[in-house]
Amino acid sequence: MSTREDQMRETWDRSFEEQIARQAYNTAPVEALVRSVSYYLRDRYSQEEQRDLHGAELGCGAGPNLVWMADKGMTVSGVDISPTALGLCRETLDKAEHGERVGSLVEASVTNVPWEDESLDVALESCVFQHLDREERTAAFREVDRLVKPGGLFVGHMLEQGHTVFDKHQGEQLADDPGTLQLEEGGSNFYLTNIGLSHFFTKSELPELLPGWTTVDPCLSQYELPAAEAEKRGYDRYLQSMLIVFAVK
Ligand SMILES: C[S@@+](CC[C@H](N)C(=O)[O-])C[C@H]1O[C@@H](n2cnc3c(N)ncnc32)[C@H](O)[C@@H]1O
Repeated sequence: MSTREDQMRETWDRSFEEQIARQAYNTAPVEALVRSVSYYLRDRYSQEEQRDLHGAELGCGAGPNLVWMADKGMTVSGVDISPTALGLCRETLDKAEHGERVGSLVEASVTNVPWEDESLDVALESCVFQHLDREERTAAFREVDRLVKPGGLFVGHMLEQGHTVFDKHQGEQLADDPGTLQLEEGGSNFYLTNIGLSHFFTKSELPELLPGWTTVDPCLSQYELPAAEAEKRGYDRYLQSMLIVFAVK
């Protein structure tokens, strides 16, 4: 792993230790992923056939999205850079009694995943690729292209440039990587303003990252935080603007 990936591992591992101590980690599947995968499955597979599919999450964290896919009977695999997150993910799957549905849970970067070519029917990522630099993002999408079978699905969930944080800081975009901010305002919470590097995607850059795919449909999803929550973060108004990328190889 590169020095930057070592740093990412340390940062995310510390975050998961804190999240476990505060019982604050994600326990619910991400709605955007659930809906998109459900549309795909409904149109192509019977419930019986879904049991033969292999679904994976790149940057699986505590694993709620994998539990949701395992609930459908799928074999599930996860890759994450944080060993603490992976331990938690394993525990979550075991508690849900899905131990026997686990294919592979590996500690690695999404830029270099130790799985076979075309081994996945469904690949998910949520709020992971957005924290990679340009070279890493290209490598991560190359891995998606390599891992997903022809006809398989990728769903990504990532920051978009209508986001309030991007709006406020757009004058600070990195000169050599437009759309990317490096924000380190301090504090121990994991708000975008102190997480380090964040890339805010545009709809138009997605087809270039998945060349040759039959469908690449980045859909806008916006959610305005309640005023009290916006105020906590130092804003009058806080719009979370995300892309849900629905892509079929
Ligand atoms: C914001 S969390 C999202 C977790 C999960 N996708 C979810 O939606 O609940 C980001 C996750 O990506 C992992 N991560 C960050 N950079 C990574 C990388 N380069 N390779 C693999 N995992 C990474 C972190 O350890 C963390 O589990």
